[in-house]
Amino acid sequence: MNIRVYKDADSIGAAAAALFAACVTQKPDCVLGLATGSSPIPTYRKMAELYRDGAVDYSGVTTYNLDEYVGLDHAHDQSYYYFMMENLFRHINVKAENIHVLSGIAPDPEQECRDYESAIAASGGIDLQILGIGRNGHIAFNEPADSFAPVTHIVELTESTIDANKRFFASADDVPRRALTTGIGTIMKARAIVLIATGADKAEAIRAMAKGPVTPRCPASILQFHPNVTVMADEAAASLL
Ligand code: F6R
Repeated sequence: MNIRVYKDADSIGAAAAALFAACVTQKPDCVLGLATGSSPIPTYRKMAELYRDGAVDYSGVTTYNLDEYVGLDHAHDQSYYYFMMENLFRHINVKAENIHVLSGIAPDPEQECRDYESAIAASGGIDLQILGIGRNGHIAFNEPADSFAPVTHIVELTESTIDANKRFFASADDVPRRALTTGIGTIMKARAIVLIATGADKAEAIRAMAKGPVTPRCPASILQFHPNVTVMADEAAASLL
């Protein structure tokens, strides 16, 4: 695990966007794994800037997002699809047919999970995956559990995650209780991973991920077993290392 400490979120965004730029430049038809939440926003802003400047062409790229809330359709302004359109997709030239986000309103959510896992494999697997980390060590919506989830599946969100995400909804009661998420196994198959963390409230999760035991009680700790992980943290998030 390669841990790099930066002065602020914008410096992290520039560094992570440079990794994406390198990936797309070396392999124009690469497959990118994307996340929502606050952590990747400066990265997406910089990726859009690189497109506007003519430095990066995303026309051959395929994307897969990590997760989606159950019950929210793509037009819902708190759906992760909507988030991705607003924060990245409508600012770059990725083709609509190459964008993949799990459907929160699929009539058969289990089939939706199986189809998603198959689609990632059929695309050749993920070349570069960006991750945030929850305060409880979750990655995607893989919450602390008794075992590592191998594939895309349906999860019940924990109170800690609902509490962290309620800031985007009118109240905690409006936060969906379930989500579809790629599994720990899905994430571990990515060829390269960049995990972004900023702020003191992520410090304990970063310590447990990097220095604690590998355990499904801290899902991100599995990244100690991945051969190509870059952690980009600010000083506050890295303060317990
Ligand atoms: C989002 C996701 C989540 C977030 C995590 C951190 O697609 O998979 O695991 O990365 O909850 O969220 P932020 O970045 O908002 O602190």
